[in-house]
Amino acid sequence: MKNVVLPYNLKEEVYKRLDVFEGLLPELKRILLELWEDDLEVQYKSNELDLVTKADYISEQTIVHFLQSRFPMDSILSEETGKKEPIVNHIPSIHLKASEFTWCIDPIDGTINYSHHLPLFSISVGILYKDIPVGGIVYIPALNDLYRAVYNDGAYKNHKRIFVSQTSDLKKSLIVTGFPYNRLEMLDQLMKTFQMVLKNCRGIRRTGSAALDLCWVAEGRFDAHYEWNLSPWDTAAGSIILKEAGGIIVNERMEEYQPGDSLMIATNRNIHQSFVELILNSIA
Ligand code: IPD
Ligand code: CA
Ligand code: CA
Repeated sequence: MKNVVLPYNLKEEVYKRLDVFEGLLPELKRILLELWEDDLEVQYKSNELDLVTKADYISEQTIVHFLQSRFPMDSILSEETGKKEPIVNHIPSIHLKASEFTWCIDPIDGTINYSHHLPLFSISVGILYKDIPVGGIVYIPALNDLYRAVYNDGAYKNHKRIFVSQTSDLKKSLIVTGFPYNRLEMLDQLMKTFQMVLKNCRGIRRTGSAALDLCWVAEGRFDAHYEWNLSPWDTAAGSIILKEAGGIIVNERMEEYQPGDSLMIATNRNIHQSFVELILNSIA
């Protein structure tokens, strides 16, 4: 945790935000599952691996409008349309002060899965206080699974407490990873690390949604997750859910991971030392 003084009413403010946002989830689920059936409209972004669908834009617009109307003093960082200043900064007649909260939004995490009708995609919404994740929700509409955490108050799935696995032997651990859209620029590194994991662990999986991966480490399905080049909206919610479930999450310098760092290594704590060494030793 960076050296930031947290206000006395931080938790109350974070709970308020997550509770209000949770109210939008049935509507988002309806939108995503309806568009999934018959109206994908797939387009390319940075390259032909990097997709966006009509549902990404509609989900994002719906979330942004909802949050701006409820919390006009908060900032927003969303994947498809970028950074938005607090509404109150633009309307001098509104006597509200901008807050230090930023909503970090991935309107569909797992767009490739979504566009291939695979049910592993999520909506990921993290709350940052001065850049530090203090709360988050990851929702998987097709499974109706809701993951939630507030700083220092534990992690929950469908409102029941969750914890990371107890696995302490690397040989018995199941690992998850993902590959960035610029993967051709770092293919040798990705393959080298992949080989090391295959040699030393029970197995490796790739679900296609990093937010979901972090939640599945948080609830003990996977024992660790590593991945390069994730964006803040992929990890802002999942990283606090993982930590609140008892996990540890670091970057390539073995410092606490902050959304936006280039390498993320998230573990169940028991295999942390050996798994981090494995990954870092594989780096050329
Ligand atoms: C992607 C997913 C995937 C990860 C990619 C991300 P998107 O997000 O999280 O698991 O490997 O790096 O970009 O594009 O589906 O929102
Ligand atoms: Ca994403
Ligand atoms: Ca996305």
